[in-house]
Amino acid sequence: MDGKKGRIFSGMRPTGPLHIGHLVGALRNWVALQDQYDCFYCIVDWHAFLSEYKAPATIRDNILGMAADWIACGIDPERSTVFVQSEVAEHLELAMIFGAMTDLPRVERVPTFKEQVQALQEKDVYTYGFLGYPVLQAADIALYKASVVPVGEDQVPHLEFAREIIRRFHGFTGSDIFPEPQAVLTPAARLLGTDRRKMSKSYGNTIPLSADAATIRRQVMSMVTDESRVKRTDPGHPDVCNVCAYYKVFAPEREGAVAEECRNAARGCVDCKSELAAILEQHLGPIRRRREELLADPGGLDAILERGRRRAQEVAEQTMRDVRRLCGVPRRGAQK
Ligand code: TRP
Ligand code: SF4
Repeated sequence: MDGKKGRIFSGMRPTGPLHIGHLVGALRNWVALQDQYDCFYCIVDWHAFLSEYKAPATIRDNILGMAADWIACGIDPERSTVFVQSEVAEHLELAMIFGAMTDLPRVERVPTFKEQVQALQEKDVYTYGFLGYPVLQAADIALYKASVVPVGEDQVPHLEFAREIIRRFHGFTGSDIFPEPQAVLTPAARLLGTDRRKMSKSYGNTIPLSADAATIRRQVMSMVTDESRVKRTDPGHPDVCNVCAYYKVFAPEREGAVAEECRNAARGCVDCKSELAAILEQHLGPIRRRREELLADPGGLDAILERGRRRAQEVAEQTMRDVRRLCGVPRRGAQK
């Protein structure tokens, strides 16, 4: 771990192309943490499978794209371990063991379960497997003995659950082999979609990382602004304007002047959005070009994921040797 503060684990489900919400809400943070921590960043395809089992082809189709997006955004596979969950079988092995130790009423109370069963009705996730989503997530984290888990606020109940299952494991086995993982929440403000609803691919209100300059411009020009500002001469309210919220995130040094000019009606919304589109293109252009280069060489991406798999596998095997021994199910021939 060469002088680093500890280990990080985080993951994302490969269910679709990434957009600026992922960049701001997760990836920027993941990138920054690479300096201080030994980071394991995992494409959690089994977690995706739990909801996409009827049409799993999209998972396959999004894995290399996700790896390319991460690396284009600054995840450095030389410093961080980037890999695919299903390529390290120990995730499922530890999840089964944690499942044995999971109190059923407790996991049924994890709030995301009922929410998702409601929200994803057509996907039929009222299943045994999907109930175990947080059990598998706890296994992901524990397998690498991660102490820090950068996630969004929505994942806090899962981290609480992971700590509890780890405590139970320690209690039953009389050990303390796992750190109790702490969530570190992404500091950046949450970006709303271009229509001010929650950012979601299915609403068409995102700006994908793959968007070209024209697409960025089209999306930005369609953004809802301060709706009480009808005429160009009306003073605006930048604090309620979504465009201004984007400035805050992508050009914090411009925000003060933009807000001031908006309040004085010294700036029109069309110009304001034009400038924002140019700023976003400055951010996303290099990411898009890097992403395209990476995707033009799928063999190179495969090699990166293979290196990641090997490093992850090594740690996972070591952990499972101890776990199996503690559970009284050592592999035949494994030393005591
Ligand atoms: N549940 C997480 C999400 O939807 C993804 C995830 C799976 C994860 N395993 C993890 C995140 C382990 C952090 C640690 O965002
Ligand atoms: Fe929003 Fe800019 Fe228009 Fe002000 S000028 S309302 S900040 S888009």
